[in-house]
Amino acid sequence: MREISLHILDIVQNSIAAKADEIGVDVIEDREKDTLTVVIGDNGCGMSAEFLKKVIDPFTTKRTTRKVGLGIPLFKMAAENTGGSLEIQSKEGEGTVVTAVFGLSHIDRQPLGDMAGTMLSLFTAYEDIRFLYKHKIDEKKFFVDTREIKNVLGDISFQAPEVYLWLSEFLKEGEEELNQMEV
Ligand SMILES: Nc1ncnc2c1ncn2[C@@H]1O[C@H](COP(=O)(O)OP(=O)(O)OP(=O)(O)O)[C@@H](O)[C@H]1O
Ligand SMILES: [Mg+2]
Repeated sequence: MREISLHILDIVQNSIAAKADEIGVDVIEDREKDTLTVVIGDNGCGMSAEFLKKVIDPFTTKRTTRKVGLGIPLFKMAAENTGGSLEIQSKEGEGTVVTAVFGLSHIDRQPLGDMAGTMLSLFTAYEDIRFLYKHKIDEKKFFVDTREIKNVLGDISFQAPEVYLWLSEFLKEGEEELNQMEV
């Protein structure tokens, strides 16, 4: 994968498959610590400790009775390639938190990619899920809670053209403002 946003989309798909109805996506850039941290948390079905081991390291597991994919291992590899790491906390019946830390200025760090577009597709494709999106760059923060937007909209869908357009602009502007470096 070429961009961190694509990994995020992939990891969020796991949360959706796990029947989560609340998903948090945090992207935290800390220039002082030189880290870019991605945290994806959900209230889905969770995983047992035993299964979690296979998911994180499918190659070192001798025998897997269940087929496991590569979404998490690829995300882990991308983080480790920048001197970072990936950790998963999960509890069956409660949920899962995936935390990936990247070396922010590391030459091999993938670009973050289009977070506005990524969140827009998630918000509009999965309207019944409450998304809490937070993007921080040092002290600056952009935060969206889709429930707050839903409360204002009432019965109007995110897919209604004017709402879709507004959401798209709102996310784009939020990201742009965040990226305007103060001199
Ligand atoms: N948030 C989650 N909640 C519950 N189970 C999860 C979660 N994330 C991953 N899993 C479990 O771990 C497995 C492996 O996830 P991973 O993303 O690595 O591969 P995959 O989703 O099976 O396939 P793909 O390669 O298409 O991503 C999933 O199939 C699922 O059983
Ligand atoms: Mg997956």
